[in-house]
Amino acid sequence: RRLSRDATTHQPLAYLRLRRAIRNVIQHRDIEPGQTLPSERDLSQALGLSRVTVRKAIAGLVEEGLLTQRHGAGTFVAERIIKPMSRLTSFTEDLRARGLHPRSEFFERSVGEVTPEESMALNLSPGVLVARLHRVRYAEDEPLAIERSVVPASVLPDPHEVHDSLYEALEKYDCRPVRALQRLRAVLLGARQARLLHVSAGSAGLHIERRGFLDDGRVVEFTTSWYRGDIYDFVAELQTD
Ligand code: GLP
Repeated sequence: RRLSRDATTHQPLAYLRLRRAIRNVIQHRDIEPGQTLPSERDLSQALGLSRVTVRKAIAGLVEEGLLTQRHGAGTFVAERIIKPMSRLTSFTEDLRARGLHPRSEFFERSVGEVTPEESMALNLSPGVLVARLHRVRYAEDEPLAIERSVVPASVLPDPHEVHDSLYEALEKYDCRPVRALQRLRAVLLGARQARLLHVSAGSAGLHIERRGFLDDGRVVEFTTSWYRGDIYDFVAELQTD
C-alpha cells in the first residue's frame, strides 16, 4: 500500500522515486528481513511502471545492501547487514536504513593527552588533547560491534555530547569526515569481546580501522572496531584499471 502511494509518478526519475519508496518500506519494516519482494513483473504491473524502471530501482537497492538476490529465487530484504565498502556511512545510518534502532553503551567517554600511537594515527603533535569513546554498539538489544574512537578535542571538546552517533555530534561542528581510509581483517574474538557481543569465544570477527578525514586533510577520527562476523558482509565493487 505504501508503495503505490509513493511511487506511481511517471517522471524521468521514476526509478529513483521507486527506490526511495522501497527503502521506506524496508525502513518501516513493512517487509521484514528475509521476506521476498514482489516480482519485477508484479511490481511493474501494480505500479504502472516499466520493467526497466523497476529493475533499475531494485539494482540500486541491491547495491546499497538493503536487498539481496538469489538466482532463480527472487529478491529478498537482506538478513545480514550488507555494507558497501565504498560508502562513508555511520553505524547509526546503516542500521536506521534497515528499520533497526541503534544505541550505544559506553565504557568510556573521556578527554586526555594523546598517546604516541594515537598521535601517529591522527597526525597530532604530542601533548594535545583527544576525546576517547569506547562503547558496545547495539541494534535494539543485540550487540553488533565494539568500537573505540579517538577524535581531536579541538573538534569534539566534550565526548559526552555523543549519545548514540559520533557522526551526528561531529556534524554539529561541521566536522563529519568527508573521506576515510579503512582497513579490514579477520580476527577470532577473544573471551571478553565475545562476551560483550553475545557470541562464543573464538567466533569470527572483523577488525576494522577507520581514519576519517576532513576536506582540508586533517584526520578527524581514528576508530578501531570489532564487528560480529556472523552478521556483517562487507562488499565492494571492483573495476579493472
Ligand atoms: C562506523 C565506523 C566508525 C564510525 C562510526 C560512526 O561504525 N566503523 O569508524 O566512527 O560508524 O557511527 P555513529 O555516527 O553511529 O557513531
